[in-house]
Amino acid sequence: MIIKQPCCEEEFNEMYNLRWKILNHPWNQPKGSEKDEIDFCNERVFYFISMIKGQIIGTARFHVNNEYEGDIKYLAVHDDYRGQGIGKNLIAHIEWFAIGLGIPYITLNVIKKAQCLFEKLNYQIIGEGPLLFNEEKQYKMGKNIIPLLTC
Ligand SMILES: CC(C)(COP(=O)(O)OP(=O)(O)OC[C@H]1O[C@@H](n2cnc3c(N)ncnc32)[C@H](O)[C@@H]1OP(=O)(O)O)[C@@H](O)C(=O)NCCC(=O)NCCS
Repeated sequence: MIIKQPCCEEEFNEMYNLRWKILNHPWNQPKGSEKDEIDFCNERVFYFISMIKGQIIGTARFHVNNEYEGDIKYLAVHDDYRGQGIGKNLIAHIEWFAIGLGIPYITLNVIKKAQCLFEKLNYQIIGEGPLLFNEEKQYKMGKNIIPLLTC
C-alpha cells in the first residue's frame, strides 16, 4: 500500500468517485456533490490517496485554514479494505505533512460512527460541528500535532 498525492486527471477522477461512493451516495446525494468550493478554487488544499495495485482504496483532504490550523475532510476508505489500518495511516500521513508545513493544530468534523477512530488517534471533541447533509449531528474534534516546547 502506498500513500501519495494524486498527480493526474485519472487519479483525481478516481479519488472523487471514491469520495462520492462512500460519503455522498449513501445519503442520496447526486454526483458532483462530493466537491465543495475549496476543491474548485483554493490553493492551500492537498489531497491524499492510498493505493493498492494501482487502485485507489482510501482518500482524505487536508486544507490549510491559516498558519496555526489545518482541517482534514472527506476521509473515506473502500468497503473491502476497512479495518486494516488504511484510515489510520492516511491520518498519520497527513499529520506528518502538516508538521512539515509547520501547522501545529488539526481540526475535523466527525459523525458519531467515526468518533471512536479519532479518539484513538488522540483527537478531542472541542465543540459541535455543522449538521451533515442537514441531517446527522457532527462533532468538531481537534489535536495538537506540534506540542508547545517548554524550557
Ligand atoms: C471511518 C473509516 C475512514 C475508517 O477507515 P478504516 O481504514 O477502516 O480504519 P482503520 O482500520 O485505520 O481503523 C483505525 C482504528 O479505528 C477503529 N475504527 C475504525 N472505524 C471504526 C468505527 N466505525 N467504529 C469504531 N472504531 C472504528 C479501528 O478499530 C481501529 O482501531 P485499532 O487501531 O485499535 O485497531 C471508514 O470506515 C470509512 O470510510 N467509513 C465511511 C466514511 C466515514 O465515516 N468517514 C469518516 C468521516 S468523519
